[in-house]
Amino acid sequence: MQPTPYTTNPPVRIAVAGAGYIGQAHIGAIFKNNSSALSAIVDPSPNAKIYAANLQVPYFEDLDVLLKSNLTQQHTDAVIIATPNHLHAQQALTCMRMDMPVLVEKPVTHDLASGQQLLEALTMSKAPVLVGHHRAHSAIMKNARAMVHSGQLGKIVSVVGTAWFFKPDDYFESSPWRKSKAAGPLLLNMIHEVHNLRMLCGEVTQVQAMTSQATRGFEVEDTASITMRFDSGVLASFAISDTAASPKSWEQTSQENPAYSSYPDQNCYYIAGTHASLAIPTMTIHSYTNTQQRSWWKPFQVSAQPAITDDPIANQIDHFVRVVRAEETPLVSLHDGLENLKVVQAIVVAASQGITVHMASFNHSSAIA
Ligand SMILES: NC(=O)c1ccc[n+]([C@@H]2O[C@H](COP(=O)([O-])OP(=O)(O)OC[C@H]3O[C@@H](n4cnc5c(N)ncnc54)[C@H](O)[C@@H]3O)[C@@H](O)[C@H]2O)c1
Repeated sequence: MQPTPYTTNPPVRIAVAGAGYIGQAHIGAIFKNNSSALSAIVDPSPNAKIYAANLQVPYFEDLDVLLKSNLTQQHTDAVIIATPNHLHAQQALTCMRMDMPVLVEKPVTHDLASGQQLLEALTMSKAPVLVGHHRAHSAIMKNARAMVHSGQLGKIVSVVGTAWFFKPDDYFESSPWRKSKAAGPLLLNMIHEVHNLRMLCGEVTQVQAMTSQATRGFEVEDTASITMRFDSGVLASFAISDTAASPKSWEQTSQENPAYSSYPDQNCYYIAGTHASLAIPTMTIHSYTNTQQRSWWKPFQVSAQPAITDDPIANQIDHFVRVVRAEETPLVSLHDGLENLKVVQAIVVAASQGITVHMASFNHSSAIA
């Protein structure tokens, strides 16, 4: 991995805590971005130490040590937290208390109680917090959002989405935290879908759900079916499974991450309005030629816009650099990240108690009840 020459001086110097799967993706994006530099790697694992030595960057086992060291004052402008979910809150709090700008991977934290602590710390901190919902930086989502909000689909009435994919056994064996209740496809994956759906349909007001762990047998679910009502009146049905042999997921349809096999003729979201429907990410639109004579007896005009695919992780680093330089405010704020978490926690409660969860009265006590 060769750093790109800097075009701006000085580059924003970013330390990455957690050099696992996504941490290394951030490191790659930092190297490619000509306005950022990698200041340090923080990760207690022996593999990370070797990785840092290969990259010839300063290495720390502990974030506190990095932040308290003189090196920080001189060489680190911002931190990315890409550690297991249950560590996010404590590490983010440490950064916020030192007024260190931070990008926290999703879920911003693993429970709403620690989310509350983060919100309180934000009021005292001078530094911005960006949450790593990188699909907010995706060209596909930008395009889809513009289409939905342009009104060309009419009033949106119904959404169907799938996140069906198959995680291999070594995904769980290499990082056993992924089998725990602090992980699972709801907290790890559905949270991305929730953010996407909020970008398209507005705020979630009610949630119903069923979950199953029957196939993998972990303490956390492997499969879920979810129904959501949005403040816009839209109803959404979403099916997610990490043990489903299907290409119908964002990862395998969007072509944003070449590491995944990809199926460009497949979709993962269907947005139905009163005048047309949109399949994402192929951007296929079925619309009536005569809007006055809409009927299931009439043929649709079918059009597809070629999907514009870019790299949202790279776009996110670009944005983070501008956030650190106070040129932009976080596109995905701490409040946004916590709202996504709240919806996911509501899904867990709706499933475990067999109830409809009303988001307006849902808080961290309901989440643990
Ligand atoms: N935005 C995305 O698309 C995306 C994708 C994958 C993961 N994630 C999120 O990123 C986080 C990490 O996931 P992953 O799949 O990369 O996990 P991973 O297990 O591959 O990597 C986590 C790394 O954190 C290190 N670590 C553990 N304790 C630490 C500590 N105290 N300080 C510093 N490092 C520590 C581990 O040694 C490991 O290298 C999770 O919160 C996950 O939800 C986001």
